Amino acid sequence: MAATILVTGGAGYVGSHTVIELLNSGYEVVVVDNLVNACQGKDGQPEALKRVEKITGKKVKFYNVDLLKLDELDKVFSAHPISLVMHFAALKAVGESVSLPLAYYKNNVSGSIILLEVMKSHGVKKLVYSSSATVYGTPQSLPLTEDHPTGQGCTNPYGKSKYFVEEILKDLVISDKEWSVVSLRYFNPVGAHKSGHIGEDPSGIPNNLMPYISQVAVGRRPSLSVYGSDYETPDGTGVRDYIHIEDLALGHIAAAKLLLSSLSGQFKVYNLGTGRGNSVLEVIKAFEEASGRKIPYTICPRRPGDIAASYADASLANKELGWTAAKTLHDMCADTWRWQSQNPHGFSSSEH
Ligand code: UFG
Repeated sequence: MAATILVTGGAGYVGSHTVIELLNSGYEVVVVDNLVNACQGKDGQPEALKRVEKITGKKVKFYNVDLLKLDELDKVFSAHPISLVMHFAALKAVGESVSLPLAYYKNNVSGSIILLEVMKSHGVKKLVYSSSATVYGTPQSLPLTEDHPTGQGCTNPYGKSKYFVEEILKDLVISDKEWSVVSLRYFNPVGAHKSGHIGEDPSGIPNNLMPYISQVAVGRRPSLSVYGSDYETPDGTGVRDYIHIEDLALGHIAAAKLLLSSLSGQFKVYNLGTGRGNSVLEVIKAFEEASGRKIPYTICPRRPGDIAASYADASLANKELGWTAAKTLHDMCADTWRWQSQNPHGFSSSEH
């Protein structure tokens, strides 16, 4: 029988794309999500998961449960023979985390601890954790390898919450060798499923570059602010390692396979990136080419907390997971545009 995988935050951007790949790989999927960042249909089901079911022709069991509600989470574990958990559920806006630190620590850290407690009480001790390159803080050297120090120079509660949970997971594996954990450090996930039916749908004004560009392209916003052109990078604008969301999702499948087949008593971390950096101006140009739309922009002062450049050494994931990012920046822009142009207001039918 196919293994059952519980996905927290499975109605969100990274979660929903990963659910597609899990279903395509033959796993049974149970999603737990409190829908704080997801569009809900009239029947209470998240719109993203309805579309996932359409794309795959398979069913997803969904529970509207907050990880902070231990008793409700416990019932979900009692109802299914869960082999492994993928933990995506978290608040993720860097700026918001500075003004709401308690909300971020409660959701991201306390929520993770409650999840781990419930997993332990049900004897489920395999976890794929959704981490971030933000745990590296300001890079001391590039490309970033997994042994780069973490936790130093994490300037905001969001980043610290990812670092804290990694530390908790390390201690947990030391305490009990039945646990095995893979922490995946994402660089900059962008793009959308190739069908154009699901994609990133930020509420309010997007914080991140790609959703902002695509909202300018579709006419929802007049122009893009480029935050800084005086960085020590080839064209002066910030450089990041953008990774296609479908590649990122496949990285999780590779991690799950490793955990389910061989890995035990270990805490492993892998960078998920392409190993290439692109500047803001390069992303704008690629998006213009992929969409055929002009992206008006103005050069503005640097955004507080931003770093000049960040990109991965992704060779460890290649060596140990057999995974590598296959899609190009053009693919990322073309798929973002397909999603945005077919769904100008994301999952809802009007501005939100
Ligand atoms: N940028 C702009 N204009 C915008 C938005 C972004 O010029 O409107 C620039 C930024 O200055 C940066 C680049 O585009 O140079 C990428 O910015 P994003 O906000 O898209 O991504 P970040 O690298 O700042 O942040 C991402 C994730 C965070 C994570 C961080 C580090 O969104 O969750 O990477 O891993 F913490």
